[in-house]
Amino acid sequence: MSEGKKEILLGDSIELMRSFETESIDLCVTDPPYKLTSGGCKGGLKIEMNTITREEKESGVMFEIPPFYRWMDELFRIMKNDTHFYCMSNKKNLSQIILDGEKVGFKVLNILVWDKGMHTPLGYYMQNVEFIVLFRKGGARKINNMGSTALISIKGIRGNKIHPSEKPVELYDHLILNSSNINDICIDPFSGSGTIIESCLKNNRQFIAIEKDPNHFEKMKNRWGDFNKKIEPQTLFGNEM
Ligand SMILES: C[S@@+](CC[C@H](N)C(=O)[O-])C[C@H]1O[C@@H](n2cnc3c(N)ncnc32)[C@H](O)[C@@H]1O
Repeated sequence: MSEGKKEILLGDSIELMRSFETESIDLCVTDPPYKLTSGGCKGGLKIEMNTITREEKESGVMFEIPPFYRWMDELFRIMKNDTHFYCMSNKKNLSQIILDGEKVGFKVLNILVWDKGMHTPLGYYMQNVEFIVLFRKGGARKINNMGSTALISIKGIRGNKIHPSEKPVELYDHLILNSSNINDICIDPFSGSGTIIESCLKNNRQFIAIEKDPNHFEKMKNRWGDFNKKIEPQTLFGNEM
């Protein structure tokens, strides 16, 4: 991989994105923070009921959740024309994500269903899927593998997670390979455990990963280091041995 942008940034993504150049990013894949529900039980949003579990707090999904349009607006500015933006969502936030994305100028190309291969009992059909909204900025660019379907079956991570909301790297691989080319710059403004970093290193993309929580940020940096140890660091970073 040629040298290029490989940035892991600690801070608020809205603030940080404000300093980025307009139309400088080729792809965004993200899994943003949103309010969690009480799983269909009486009581509505946990955030309103103050019944958040420790795991949920640690995941970072529960602190100061900005409305989607606030960060999407900044993202829209920094994305190049004719690019894709994938936004993961649960069923509760899907409509707001679509409304806010369109409000700032993105257009919906498709709504993908991620079959996680595991389910949560809900009482109204077992929940085994999440959603990924595929937006475009500008023209309707085609995906690279046009044989891909809107149903993506990739096993979610059980046990041994670095982050409570960690997504499988194969899911990021699938989206990144379909909507970017070698050396393109990919951004995840809410990186969590840094799944985007691992996927971009694997697939020869440049990346910008932003995380606000210092604990997750430290873990991301370690993950990057661990990944490089596994795959010939001297070739990746030019530090000849
Ligand atoms: C759902 S998790 C992302 C998980 C990630 N996709 C992965 O595979 O590990 C969302 C992350 O966004 C971070 N976050 C929340 N608000 C933020 C903000 N304003 N700026 C940057 N990061 C933020 C949280 O700390 C959390 O780690």
